[in-house]
Amino acid sequence: VRIIYVEHGGAEHEVNAEPGVSLMEAAVKNGVAAIEGECGGACACATCHVFIPAEWQAITGTITDDERDMLEFGVDVDDRSRLGCQIRITAEMDGITVLTPRSQR
Ligand code: FES
Repeated sequence: VRIIYVEHGGAEHEVNAEPGVSLMEAAVKNGVAAIEGECGGACACATCHVFIPAEWQAITGTITDDERDMLEFGVDVDDRSRLGCQIRITAEMDGITVLTPRSQR
């Protein structure tokens, strides 16, 4: 599954990820430094904060209450904000663009 991570500064990383891993895990494994995943995917750090463009949100699903609570610690949170560790990659996500916030680089 092709995932395109775009950092705040504009750097793009195109990654080929296995379905079933999270957007955070695929980023960490492929050296996308803007996504740290400090808590290892436990929804407890917000260093995997990403922006999902509106046109992809139907596929990535809706935000959970736990994510919303953790994102209170995120920077520049808006209605595209999700935690990358809480989104499992599926085949339908092929070609998705995932943006990262200014504070993460
Ligand atoms: Fe810590 Fe996602 S990796 S909240």
